[in-house]
Amino acid sequence: MAVLSTGLYAGLAGYYDRFCAEVDYAGQCDYALRAFRAFASSDGVDYLDLACGTGQHLLAMQQRGFVPHGLDNSSAMLAQTALRCPQARLQLCDLAEFEQQDSFDLITCFLYSIHYSHPVARVQQTLQRCFAALKPGGVLLFNAVDAHGIQNDEGVTTYLHQGGEALSFRSGWHYRGAGEVLDLHLTITRTVAGDEEQWCDHHTMTALNFPQLQALLQQIGFEVEVMEHDYSVLLAWSGESSNAIFVASKPC
Ligand SMILES: C[S@@+](CC[C@H](N)C(=O)[O-])C[C@H]1O[C@@H](n2cnc3c(N)ncnc32)[C@H](O)[C@@H]1O
Repeated sequence: MAVLSTGLYAGLAGYYDRFCAEVDYAGQCDYALRAFRAFASSDGVDYLDLACGTGQHLLAMQQRGFVPHGLDNSSAMLAQTALRCPQARLQLCDLAEFEQQDSFDLITCFLYSIHYSHPVARVQQTLQRCFAALKPGGVLLFNAVDAHGIQNDEGVTTYLHQGGEALSFRSGWHYRGAGEVLDLHLTITRTVAGDEEQWCDHHTMTALNFPQLQALLQQIGFEVEVMEHDYSVLLAWSGESSNAIFVASKPC
């Protein structure tokens, strides 16, 4: 069995959409639109997706009337986005480094990608960049996990079969119980005619808790709503789940 270790998402880009086949991108974008209408004071359509991956949200939001802009630090992922959503303006950039001012009505960051800014000081910088990049009345929407709710289990495995090829994709978080590090472990196994090839990677993400995240957003100047992690309904967080959707508005 060959074990490969490459840069996270560079090697994954070609497989990414197949492993995300079950993700309800349309449902997430319908939710973003509902939250935008409920919490934004701006009614513009300039939209930025942070850590846009292969551009699924960009295309879905374009279909909902928004003008798509995407940011990611992987050129391989952006290459997929360019094919999917040719009208999107794309920037190859770190989450904490983009520099627009008063440019967007809506910024999203899905699939817990805000945690890729590391450590907490970089998350804070990312949120500050978002505040600067939003027009007054604009909204930032992202999902997050409270590290104290991490199960430290095997994670989630997705299996795919196509022709003579079998693929599995396992992703799991591990939190040591204290500190700013949230470990993400990814393993892809590809089996063809009995030959197994495994691609493993580890990425250091940032452990956050919800009171801390709320405080960070408020210190920057955002008005914050914490919502249940349920894309089918716009519902305030009950305080129980360790997954939530943050909707942060920039005051007018
Ligand atoms: C789990 S994927 C999510 C992609 C997309 N948001 C989705 O929901 O399908 C995480 C993405 O974040 C990007 N990424 C990771 N760290 C980043 C960073 N520091 N700055 C910008 N993008 C980053 C990766 O290249 C990858 O495309």
